[in-house]
Amino acid sequence: MKKGKKLYEGKAKIIYATSDKNLVIQYFKDDATAFNNQKKSTIEGKGVLNNRISEHILSNLSQIGIKNHLVKRLNMREQVIKLVEIIPIEFIVRNVASGSITKRLGIEDGTVLKEPLVEYCLKNDELGDPLIAEEHIYAFEWASKKEIEKVKKMILRINDFMIGMFRGVGIKLIDFKLEFGRIKNNGRSEVILADEISPDTCRLWDSITDKKLDKDRFRKDLGDLIPAYTEVAKRLGILHEQSNVSAVNVTKLSSIKRKK
Ligand code: TMP
Repeated sequence: MKKGKKLYEGKAKIIYATSDKNLVIQYFKDDATAFNNQKKSTIEGKGVLNNRISEHILSNLSQIGIKNHLVKRLNMREQVIKLVEIIPIEFIVRNVASGSITKRLGIEDGTVLKEPLVEYCLKNDELGDPLIAEEHIYAFEWASKKEIEKVKKMILRINDFMIGMFRGVGIKLIDFKLEFGRIKNNGRSEVILADEISPDTCRLWDSITDKKLDKDRFRKDLGDLIPAYTEVAKRLGILHEQSNVSAVNVTKLSSIKRKK
């Protein structure tokens, strides 16, 4: 498959065209941002780990019937995905209160929610991805009622699956962010899961110690982000127990692959 021109560059990923108009290449960068781009850094090896972790989760979701954009991983930093028309909403799923909800509503960090809570944010960096109500989605026609009903059902299945998957490896799924997009299927529009699912887009705490194994290590200057993401990958069985993925190692591996 031939890699074409850059179509879009986001904060953590780049999208390239391919020779097939329905497929694009998603490249995982090492850039990390937080608080709507106010805090920025480059963390060597992060993109490689997110590529692998997201591939693992999305292919598992595919096996339980959650349609998503992943076609296949190409190399250490790239995957072929279906080109979707992204729905401009970030769907935040919370099982335990942490992050913005604790500040916004004064809820104590770590409060376990009785039911998963789904929040909607408008995907607009200039406005700082503001929280919106479901009614805003219909009022401004960002998605139809039918699409949101379908998305909500998918979200609950994804959450159930991911809670179980992480629980099995000693990790609590605190919250995460999902994005969905439209593809044409036999001329009809269909909504599928898109973007990535990784420690950049989830809060993951060790089940016993509550140690943070996600991007909060960067947001809160806790350090050791690569060892934490590596720990997640190892526990999920993506990396061998004995493999010592230092930032240098992953970067070396990815550049070897890219030179091909
Ligand atoms: P929040 O507590 O900052 O609202 O974040 C909730 C979850 O969503 C957390 O796991 C991080 C993830 N998230 C993203 O992946 N991208 C974003 O732009 C934001 C704001 C949150």
